[in-house]
Amino acid sequence: MNTNLAPILDAASIQEVINLQSKQSLVFHCVKCKHNTSGIYQDQNDTMLKCPACCSPLIYCPVCKKCVSGTETFNVLTCDMCSTDYITKSTIDHLISRDRKSKEIVLSGIRATGRLHLGNFLGAVKQFVDYEKEGNLCLYFIADWHTLTTCHDPREISSNIIGVATDYLAAGLNPERSIIYAQSSIPELAELALYLAMFQSKNQLENLPTLKDLVKDKPYISMGHLYYPVLMAADILGPQATIVPVGSDQIPNVELACGLARKFNNLFGHTFVIPQVGLRTVKIPGLSGGKMGKSEQESSIQLDDDLETITDKYLRHGITDPNRKRKKDPGDPKQCLSVYPVHKILYENDSESLQRIEHECRNAERGCQDCKRELARNIDTLMQPFHERKRKLLERQGYVREILHFGGMKAREIVQPTLSSVRKKLGVASS
Ligand code: TRP
Repeated sequence: MNTNLAPILDAASIQEVINLQSKQSLVFHCVKCKHNTSGIYQDQNDTMLKCPACCSPLIYCPVCKKCVSGTETFNVLTCDMCSTDYITKSTIDHLISRDRKSKEIVLSGIRATGRLHLGNFLGAVKQFVDYEKEGNLCLYFIADWHTLTTCHDPREISSNIIGVATDYLAAGLNPERSIIYAQSSIPELAELALYLAMFQSKNQLENLPTLKDLVKDKPYISMGHLYYPVLMAADILGPQATIVPVGSDQIPNVELACGLARKFNNLFGHTFVIPQVGLRTVKIPGLSGGKMGKSEQESSIQLDDDLETITDKYLRHGITDPNRKRKKDPGDPKQCLSVYPVHKILYENDSESLQRIEHECRNAERGCQDCKRELARNIDTLMQPFHERKRKLLERQGYVREILHFGGMKAREIVQPTLSSVRKKLGVASS
């Protein structure tokens, strides 16, 4: 498939075609239904013409130089004649909406290590969906380059890219509204990271707490580990994100990105927006009470786990109030490490049920096992819509790949102007 990132057929380019044909009647050919449409002059104000027979959009394709029909998929238009992809007027409107004060550019990424777990789902992806619903311009990506710092199995990485994208969509992200892509679809980000690295002290990178987490159990610190936050800064600053939702462990990296943006702006004049952290308020404890970690399967509830597995995991590994030894001892929900805190999140809008649990626990009317079983059932019910969507998506992996392909194009379109401006300011040759 060809890709061409030029915008198509806005009012000015229609005018250009008209001038080109020296005011002769233009004929658009619909490749799909073979209908020919002429006389577009009356419609000059309309930026997108439609085939009167089958309603396909009609375009002037600057690559095959024909007036033909196109196919629109996720706001990207493909010329039916030569298969070149274009960013459409509606995409551009969408992208321009970032200039409107009320809208934010929300950006976040997840590494392609393992599938998403319940902690990602409740803590991150649900928040992503909320940002999307508020009408912000949302970019959600799979940080496949970052994954290379800890995983060198090509099959695992490529299957996780599509796996995380499938989970994003199953969780309810709408590909017509959010831009979903793999980081590696945007080579400009690697270039931007290189430029940013010129302004980043090695010392600061060596002292970041995020580095210590990353290299835990690793035989040595690679350049990739050290460079990780600089690449993350490029992810954020390239699309000029205004809000970056991350877990608290990633805050030092976002702050580093802000520092780099400030430094560059001070030296070269305003170039980058300084983003804000969209802090996650929902924290889901793992079964052992610590952070629900992607790589620690035992301590995590996976999104694909069925009721039996969830129940079994909580019964076997879930840690409740450590001081409550027997069912007839009264418990203290505040001391419960991994069960009550999740009830609290799931029963957020049902204070009656939450109070019932609290009361029964304090009065030894319910055992920890009952509590774990109720929690497992609630998690399973909550996940039902996710499972249904995921079943359908697994039968349509080509569709998920398409979303990543078009998402990559759109995200590139957003990042490119930043790169042109950075190159110009640094005085390096523009490509
Ligand atoms: N480092 C993040 C994590 O491990 C993933 C990530 C990469 C990211 N680039 C980003 C998150 C940019 C937010 C913005 O969770």
